[in-house]
Amino acid sequence: MRNENQVTPANEEVSGPDGDRRSFLKTGSAMSASVAALSAAPMVHAQDTAGGNSDTVRLAMVGCGGRGGGAVNDTMSINENIELVAMADVDGEKLDPFRRGALKRHENKVKVADSKMHSGIDAYRRVLDDPDVDVVMFATPPGFRPQYIAEAVDAGKHVFAEKPTCVDPAGFKICLSAHEQAIANGTAIVTGTQYRRQTNYVEAVKRIHGGEIGDIIAATTRYCSTGIWNRIRKPDMSDTEYQIYNWMHFIWLSGDQIAEQAVHNIDTMNWIMGGPPESAYGSGGRFTRPEGSEMWDNIEVDYIYPGNRLLSFMCRQIPGTAGDNSNIIYGTNGTCTIYGANRGAVITDRDGKESWSMQGNISAAYRQEHKDLIDSIRDGKPIVELKATAESSMTAVLGRMAAYTGQSVKWDFATKESKLDLFPADFDIKGARPESKHAIPGKTKLI
Ligand SMILES: NC(=O)c1ccc[n+]([C@@H]2O[C@H](COP(=O)([O-])OP(=O)(O)OC[C@H]3O[C@@H](n4cnc5c(N)ncnc54)[C@H](O)[C@@H]3O)[C@@H](O)[C@H]2O)c1
Repeated sequence: MRNENQVTPANEEVSGPDGDRRSFLKTGSAMSASVAALSAAPMVHAQDTAGGNSDTVRLAMVGCGGRGGGAVNDTMSINENIELVAMADVDGEKLDPFRRGALKRHENKVKVADSKMHSGIDAYRRVLDDPDVDVVMFATPPGFRPQYIAEAVDAGKHVFAEKPTCVDPAGFKICLSAHEQAIANGTAIVTGTQYRRQTNYVEAVKRIHGGEIGDIIAATTRYCSTGIWNRIRKPDMSDTEYQIYNWMHFIWLSGDQIAEQAVHNIDTMNWIMGGPPESAYGSGGRFTRPEGSEMWDNIEVDYIYPGNRLLSFMCRQIPGTAGDNSNIIYGTNGTCTIYGANRGAVITDRDGKESWSMQGNISAAYRQEHKDLIDSIRDGKPIVELKATAESSMTAVLGRMAAYTGQSVKWDFATKESKLDLFPADFDIKGARPESKHAIPGKTKLI
């Protein structure tokens, strides 16, 4: 399993100056010019090819797992005149149960022919090549996201991309490029940061920005939970197949909990603070992860935002510990607390007297992002929100870099100078991967 010539991503922070993704970027720019020149992407289908009408928006799902199923249900529950017409998953066994599940709930909106169910590592390309597809939805492990989004934009497809949108600086740059290209092409990109569309979050942030708690001095944000799944390797899986199957535990695929899960809180904070932080200093460690996992159990980061405002961040997944998913913003005149999921938001003055509160409804937020996407396509005003989500994903990466290495890391270094590229330069679905190792501060290098 171990290739002595390779270093372990989490431990040594692989640099890939001319890896696949960067050479793709060059192709991407060239293609983008030609796509833009054709003023290309059709907003929706002009032809009725599958039983809908000319206004029917046709969707494809890439990554037919848990959230993929949720996203299909969300979009079908809130949008009319849409159809799921194609599916792709690296694991062919996922496809039929996924289609059956979608059919059970939305019989009239699921029109996936057997010939449009694609499996294998290049399955997403069959979807991008399909002229019947208007919108591609990505719910694969995050490590694939930057490249897949960029290729989808090149192909003139509208995109729904789950969070996080990148797990390293190399992926961040691809996202920034794809964002610009989508604007030029007229293709939409909506991302799975549903809290930006949750009404109690929207109202709380509006009140903070309106000065209701005074000037922001500092904030805390926590995503602490009790654990995460671990999938046992099946016989005959290559190292790469196994890592993709058990993707949460491999940093090149998940980005660790801080990127995979806590990006929701970090995204909320970037939204409130008006953009990403200037620097990060952090720590963390591991006690309970399974053998072979590269994940840490917990990461704590002090982020400094412009205006010398401190964000104290914490994430943890340890069984038996107290959970907390909350964002608390301290202002000169009061405090705003926004809880995750359905637990609402509240504003109090400096004496603790409540002046405002509101309940939350996360299910509505999950659906709203899909309504906004489809409406924006139909209105000819495609939403492109990749940059903000990429910045939030990169803020998580910045915190992870600081914690893994034990160094103070600046945003400018991480986004402009860092050579960190976790995607395997020698990616081969049947190939071996180096033995996994977790990061050790003081030994893991900042690159
Ligand atoms: N917005 C949210 O609140 C939310 C909630 C849960 C998950 N997510 C995100 O959704 C994504 C998927 O998470 P999940 O829980 O559904 O994971 P999952 O493991 O249940 O599903 C992932 C699916 O992708 C497939 N896959 C893996 N690599 C692929 C590739 N290269 N091409 C095609 N298919 C591939 C897998 O076989 C699997 O079916 C993650 O990015 C996760 O962070 C977001």
